Amino acid sequence: MLKEKAKAITEKALEAIQQASDSKSLYEVKVNFLGKQGEFSKLMKETGKLPKEDRPAFGKEVNLLKKNIEEAYLAKELDLANVELALRLKTEKIDLTLPGVYRAVGRQHPLTLVIREIVDILSHIGFSVRTGPMIEEDWYNFEALNIPKDHPARDMQDTFYMDDTHVLRTHTSPIQIHTMENEKPPLRVLAPGSVFRCDSDVTHSPNFYQIEGLCVDKKVSMADLKGTISYFVNAFFGQDLKTRFRPSFFPFTEPSAEVDCSCPICKGKGCRVCSNTGWVEIGGCGLVNPKVLVHAKINAAERSDDDYQGYAFGFGIERMAMIKYGIDDIRRFNENDMRFLAQFKR
Ligand code: DAH
Repeated sequence: MLKEKAKAITEKALEAIQQASDSKSLYEVKVNFLGKQGEFSKLMKETGKLPKEDRPAFGKEVNLLKKNIEEAYLAKELDLANVELALRLKTEKIDLTLPGVYRAVGRQHPLTLVIREIVDILSHIGFSVRTGPMIEEDWYNFEALNIPKDHPARDMQDTFYMDDTHVLRTHTSPIQIHTMENEKPPLRVLAPGSVFRCDSDVTHSPNFYQIEGLCVDKKVSMADLKGTISYFVNAFFGQDLKTRFRPSFFPFTEPSAEVDCSCPICKGKGCRVCSNTGWVEIGGCGLVNPKVLVHAKINAAERSDDDYQGYAFGFGIERMAMIKYGIDDIRRFNENDMRFLAQFKR
């Protein structure tokens, strides 16, 4: 009886092995029949029913059957492994023609690009960068620049006051004073940086960027200033553009001028960017007021025999970027909209 049972189990096992479709189910077959809780273990518990003298022979027989199953198992295992390998080779083939995984790479902000380009252009004619604090003493932001307390010029800038003597700098011009205090002429410096004014609409932001230029040397004239600015305008906006100087007033320069260039968008024909005038204003400039040179201890008196002269200029970075790229709203720069930012590349 037990012998027949053993044979039946063996047949079932061999059948199941043949049927197994993958190595996982094949292994389950092995566990079910040959494992500790498997069919053969259960069968062996019944050997007590046999007469003692028959038990060794039965044991031998069972071992033989188990060996057959084991061999069938190994053979099938090899078969399945080959099939599975072939399948993997077929399905997991690497398609080298597929596009790679896209990784978003950051790039420089348009304002950073504009600052770097300006610095790059002017560094070719001897200018190098200086910085200064954003929280300024009243002296540096106003007084040393010939903007005394209660001077109407302070009305031109809506100032964020920190306390009675400190302000968030309203322009980069105070860096002129720091530089002249700390260094000996000749000087050719650029000072890009963040500035602050209590102002906000499509063309004004409470925090924006300027770049200041300062040259201090012997025999510096308006002609040097015009030459420098024209060179810059042509390098930055385009070789075919004209530069125009309009008389103006700044307390820290004398004479002072406002700089226009022919509109880079319409080349002077008239468009939305230049309000149909053909010209766009890019900043202020002038010869450094002798009082400022005295305040900064460059000259001992307002007039002396071998004194220094200087020219200075100040441009709005956002304004330059808006003109160059035809951007109509200053708020775009701070909205972090990737569709906007991703368009700019040098
Ligand atoms: N500081 C001025 C402003 O913020 C801009 C400026 C004008 C700077 C004339 C200069 C200059 O250096 O010479 O409006």
